Amino acid sequence: MSTDSPLRLAIFASGRGSNAMAIIRAARSGRLSRVEPVLVVCDKSEAPVVGRARAEGVEAREIVPRNFSSKEAYEGAILEILKERSIDAVALAGYMRLVGPVLIEAFSDRIMNIHPSLLPSFPGLHAQRQAIDYGVRVTGVTVHFVDLLMDHGPVILQKSVPVFPEDTEETLSQRLLPIEHEAYIESLDALSRGRLRIEGRRVLWQQD
Ligand code: GAR
Repeated sequence: MSTDSPLRLAIFASGRGSNAMAIIRAARSGRLSRVEPVLVVCDKSEAPVVGRARAEGVEAREIVPRNFSSKEAYEGAILEILKERSIDAVALAGYMRLVGPVLIEAFSDRIMNIHPSLLPSFPGLHAQRQAIDYGVRVTGVTVHFVDLLMDHGPVILQKSVPVFPEDTEETLSQRLLPIEHEAYIESLDALSRGRLRIEGRRVLWQQD
């Protein structure tokens, strides 16, 4: 990928798609001036994200794992489409599935994920509920590069929010969501400008 041409981005999502929409709209508005969202891949049929992406003029494909004989075959089919579209990088945006070796090897250090906690605390499902149940006073969001383990790769950016005694999973999720969108846009902007360098588990931000 050259830093002169826009980063051709595929977004993987499974549901509502608020992060996907935030990324697409930031690219449209010029906020993510070096990112071109080319494709949305959804692993569920009839998820809202598909219609929302199409309404923004972005191609959206439903590629459902149960229609394939194995995870390798499923990811192989996705990889073919990513190659056809000359995709440079992938943003997981509420993609509720572990990415396997087929995609990780093809897009080494080019797949990002957003997670609604300060990793390594509270990986997996219902991160907001896990934070409330544990009793933490501060939680947040993490954008990280993706490796083969769940919610595990090198951390790109984290932002924190308070947890209040009266919080429910719902209210905390609502507080986190705009912070997720902000963190994802900042991280993708940095990637598109060639500013992120990975050294082991650390991600170094280079100045422009
Ligand atoms: C977001 O809160 C995202 O951080 C979370 O799913 C939600 C998707 O919302 N992802 C994970 O928990 C991944 N481990 P969205 O579809 O509105 O972007």
